[in-house]
Amino acid sequence: MKTARIGLIGLGVMGANLALNIAEKGFAVAVYNRTTERIGEFVSSAGDLAENLIAAESPQALVAALQPPRAVIVMVKAGAPVDAVIARLRPLLEPGDMIIDAGNANFHDTRRREAELRKAGLAFLGMGVSGGEEGARHGPSIMVGGQAESYEAIRDIVEAIAAKYEGRPCAALLGPDGAGHFVKTVHNGIEYADMQLIAEVYGLLRDGDRRAPERIAGLFARWNEGPLQSYLVEITAEVLRATDPLTGRPMVEMIVDRAGQKGTGRWTVIEALSLGQSASTIEAAVGARSWSAAREARAAGAAILAGAAPSGEGAPALSDDDLEQALLAARVVAYSQGFSLLQAASEEYGWNLDLATIAEIWRAGCIIRSGLLNDMAAAARQGLPHGLLIFAPDFARMLAAAAPALRRTVARGALAGLPVPAFSAALAWLDTMRQPRGTTDLIQALRDFFGAHGFERIDGGTGQHGPWAK
Ligand code: 6PG
Repeated sequence: MKTARIGLIGLGVMGANLALNIAEKGFAVAVYNRTTERIGEFVSSAGDLAENLIAAESPQALVAALQPPRAVIVMVKAGAPVDAVIARLRPLLEPGDMIIDAGNANFHDTRRREAELRKAGLAFLGMGVSGGEEGARHGPSIMVGGQAESYEAIRDIVEAIAAKYEGRPCAALLGPDGAGHFVKTVHNGIEYADMQLIAEVYGLLRDGDRRAPERIAGLFARWNEGPLQSYLVEITAEVLRATDPLTGRPMVEMIVDRAGQKGTGRWTVIEALSLGQSASTIEAAVGARSWSAAREARAAGAAILAGAAPSGEGAPALSDDDLEQALLAARVVAYSQGFSLLQAASEEYGWNLDLATIAEIWRAGCIIRSGLLNDMAAAARQGLPHGLLIFAPDFARMLAAAAPALRRTVARGALAGLPVPAFSAALAWLDTMRQPRGTTDLIQALRDFFGAHGFERIDGGTGQHGPWAK
């Protein structure tokens, strides 16, 4: 009987492409899907790669086809479906075997599953996979969490299927238990921010400048040749250029402005807040998607809040170069907030995350791959002043040069009445982080006034109270 070192459960688009990727790299892979008709269909459409695929008609057959210690990748919808698959596999596996969750799991679930399975003598890896369908098929970025010896057992397969940056695989074991899924979550948070910033540029040009999608596409295509070079900027140009085959109009104009979200962006923000941080640029992006759902209310608001519309005076002109610089600056801010969150979580959960390695494995394969990541990896290797990417010398210089354009962009949005929540949040955070004396002295005074919460005096002494008349 043909056997394999690795199995895969869940032949949806991502799972199927990952299985083909594994097979193409010369590893046999046993595959199973809950809707069993899909298994034969998948194998028979795999062409030459079918010789490396073993169709398993049941979880039992899948496990029987694996060489011990067995490794099974689970690529099903995050949440309860993952627990259901684990529950079916668990009695079939033996101590030393391993389950790998390659979905977009919430890292708290990953920590729980890892602890439960470890008690039963089974290994569990939480493996974040980024790059969409194409990435899964031809080389994703892979962020792994779990025990080192478990990762070692499958490292050759993971590195073979991962994207390569200058020949180096974009895959790494980043820390124990939920570390990989946490890093993937923050990756997605940054993805949300980047896409929101791009959409805000589109809005400023479409509504502020009456520019057609085709012309905006040209701008993004040009920017993709410079410091903004990135997958998301590249595909923005492609998307804006596309024509709707039904109407002949720009495709983007035929799409309802209500964004979906599956949870990773929201989790990024929730975790940031729980760790005493604020990933405000990412939060603005999540919020923008959430409010996009209130489409009927927004339509009504156009009339109800007509009085709040801008009067039309004073909006600064904005050049294309301004927008390029503003997008660059705000993108760096979003990454910086993401990195700070990774650092905070690393301390909280004892993961010992290496930010430079994370930036390195994001350089190819993943959705947020960008020309900036190589410089970010180098900055992280050198050590970030006060833990902040925006303070790294090269980035501080870049931000100094781009800040005037970022200010004009936010001012233009505000005075033209065009929402730019992510740009605004990015600018507000930059200004916060260059303000030696903030305004929370007054917050402290107010807290003390109504609740006797006490404050720290600048000339010494904690738990102090003000002379408020009571
Ligand atoms: C990736 C993507 C991928 C997926 C997100 C989209 O890295 O390959 O991030 O994970 O596209 O789940 O998330 P939303 O549906 O929440 O936008």
